[in-house]
Amino acid sequence: MPDRPLSLQNQVALVTGASSGIGRQAAYSLAEAGASVVINYIGSRDPAEEVVQKIEEQGGQAMAVEADVSNEAQVDAMFTRACERFGTLHILVNNAGIEKDKAFTEMTLAEWQEVIDVNLTGQFLCSRAAIREFLRRGEQPDISRATGKIVCISSVHQRIPWARHANYAASKGGVMLLVQTLAQEFASRRIRVNAVAPGAIKTAINRAAWATEEALDKLLKMIPYGRVGDAADVGNAIVWLCCDASDYVTGTTLVVDGGMTLYPSFSTGEG
Ligand code: BGC
Repeated sequence: MPDRPLSLQNQVALVTGASSGIGRQAAYSLAEAGASVVINYIGSRDPAEEVVQKIEEQGGQAMAVEADVSNEAQVDAMFTRACERFGTLHILVNNAGIEKDKAFTEMTLAEWQEVIDVNLTGQFLCSRAAIREFLRRGEQPDISRATGKIVCISSVHQRIPWARHANYAASKGGVMLLVQTLAQEFASRRIRVNAVAPGAIKTAINRAAWATEEALDKLLKMIPYGRVGDAADVGNAIVWLCCDASDYVTGTTLVVDGGMTLYPSFSTGEG
């Protein structure tokens, strides 16, 4: 058994949507813990290469691979390339996600479908490819107590309904039961599957919610802990769920939200 329960030394991680936001920080945090990291991205290559370069500058190993997580052939090709370079895979962080917000009666089928495709089908396709590789490789007890670890990035909106975001909330509700079902199905093979549910984390996806003073005041009323989250808050949670310190944890959601899910409007005890 590895004697450093917080280390990811000699492990290979793949992070989807890793060229910005929470995914980028997840890549840095995993690399800092010792993992080699595959940086998945779509579109412009430069930001992904920057992440690779930063990891290499710190003495780590990384590679960038473009793939649309909702495209079966591209996902499978990405996992093949990752395993060609690093030999196998121990960790998948299903992070890639989008929002296409719209009043429900105005929402087009395309807007519904695109969000479900990336946020939910993408997690299905990547989890399937990762689990196939975990099972092919089998246990490596010198490296990790689990044969493989998957962390799915969900959201507080797997629990909190969100008007004008029906596609997004539905995708995250789906992620929650995908996680629990995979955890149940593969626990006996020592594959752990968990979720992280971030609240308001300062990234580009929710810029409108924190970029102006007025918006920020409104947002902070929903966060009892009194600050907007940093990507590092989520990165730390991801690392913990991937390492042996959490070896007995599977099928759960770690909520990282400064208390957003604690019904802050009830905090005065009135009413
Ligand atoms: C969304 C953000 C939002 C946060 C809290 C996240 O899942 O991506 O846009 O700020 O939930 O509502």
